[in-house]
Amino acid sequence: MALSRRQMLSGTVASLAMIESRPIRLRAEVAGDGFTVLIIQKVPRVILEGGKESRLWTYNGINPGPEIRVRRQDKVKVRLVNGLDEPTMLHWHGIRIDNAMDGSPLTQNPVEPGEAFDYAFTAPDAGTYWYHPHIGSSRQVEHGLYGALIVEEETPPADAVELPLVLDDWLINDDGTLDQEAFGDIRMAAHGGRLGNWFTVNGQSRPHLVAPAGKRLRLRLLNCANARIMNLQIKGAEPLIMALDGQPLKAPRALGTDPLQLGPGGRADLMIRRATDQITLANVNTADEPLEVAYIDRTGVQGEVDTGDISAFPTNGLPQTVDIAGIPVRTLVMEGGAMGGLTGAKLRGREVHMRELVQNGMAWAFNGVAGMTEEPFASLKVGETTVFDLINNTAWPHAMHLHGHHVLPLMIDDKPIATQDWRDTVVMAANSTMRVAFIADNPGRWMLHCHMLEHQAAGMMTWVSVDFE
Ligand code: C2O
Ligand code: CU
Repeated sequence: MALSRRQMLSGTVASLAMIESRPIRLRAEVAGDGFTVLIIQKVPRVILEGGKESRLWTYNGINPGPEIRVRRQDKVKVRLVNGLDEPTMLHWHGIRIDNAMDGSPLTQNPVEPGEAFDYAFTAPDAGTYWYHPHIGSSRQVEHGLYGALIVEEETPPADAVELPLVLDDWLINDDGTLDQEAFGDIRMAAHGGRLGNWFTVNGQSRPHLVAPAGKRLRLRLLNCANARIMNLQIKGAEPLIMALDGQPLKAPRALGTDPLQLGPGGRADLMIRRATDQITLANVNTADEPLEVAYIDRTGVQGEVDTGDISAFPTNGLPQTVDIAGIPVRTLVMEGGAMGGLTGAKLRGREVHMRELVQNGMAWAFNGVAGMTEEPFASLKVGETTVFDLINNTAWPHAMHLHGHHVLPLMIDDKPIATQDWRDTVVMAANSTMRVAFIADNPGRWMLHCHMLEHQAAGMMTWVSVDFE
């Protein structure tokens, strides 16, 4: 069956994909020494019903990978075994852990084919996080390598069930196979990145999920797409936003009628009251009808009308505000991309023209440098209050992500932001400036990059160092 891309993106497709999914809480195998083993395996899977098989890359044969779930202050112990024929590594997105376990090229050597690496760290923050490779990420994540890392509160909210919803879009061909030609495509990298045409939730297309009507429902939403900014609607409920990127809001906030925007890498925890109404999750693509992507049926009886308070989740210790009086502002100018007028940039220490950048797969620059630099964008002292102005001088939105810390967005285009929430991934509109502040309290070498994975690969990455003394 040949479906046009347009049909797949709009809401009119009747058939369902069948990426084989797993029971949500499936436990990965635990080795004798207490390590959960994640083995990367290539497995044939049908993405589009009636379509041909693709070879997905999976942790333990499933997509998404096994959910890693611990309680706050517990140890996460994961053994990654690389069954690919290329190097990989595991990054723990958003969680403020020990730098040595961050899983970026700044903190470890690649895990070569057939080799293993042990990750062990204490989970300092409760919340919704995720894991994914941090080299060759455009190819590796798009092939299916990602999973949820869930850190439960010491006292989880009473009387609530939860449903993690791992969201992804895939770029597939008309025959249903994963598009291979676009990997490394510089045109795509210079535009919006690898935007998919087939949407899955927990590895399934339009799943029907269930939750009891008589309990509150906590949704954990994770955007694991390579490049798509999701604009999510929750129909049939009036959710409260409880946490963003893992960090609890000071006070729960009604989602209201605007869609919830999650950039690639972003997460949100929502709380929904007891009710019997069916919930529909939809994603609003520009100019299209909202695409319904999942349904949640509330089963059983609701019981008493749920009007009780929903109290904020306990804080992970981040301050409510950051005092930036007298703090110097460090400026990161983002340039390049299609219609960006970039004429050249520094590449591996040498000033080169745009043509040569493109020949090297580069299309973007931070402060005039394409790709990773020897020197950090900022050298910070442990405990230093830090302010960045992120200046997006491009015709494209971006999703800027800092490792090892959360940042507090303060202003957009010199106007204070009404609701200031701690984030690890911030969505920036084209041609806009965002001021963010944070306390550099986690020593180490931390990447700062666009989480649109093709943008990152094509130049949008740098790093900050946080040092004692
Ligand atoms: Cu989720 Cu540097 O990445
Ligand atoms: Cu970007």
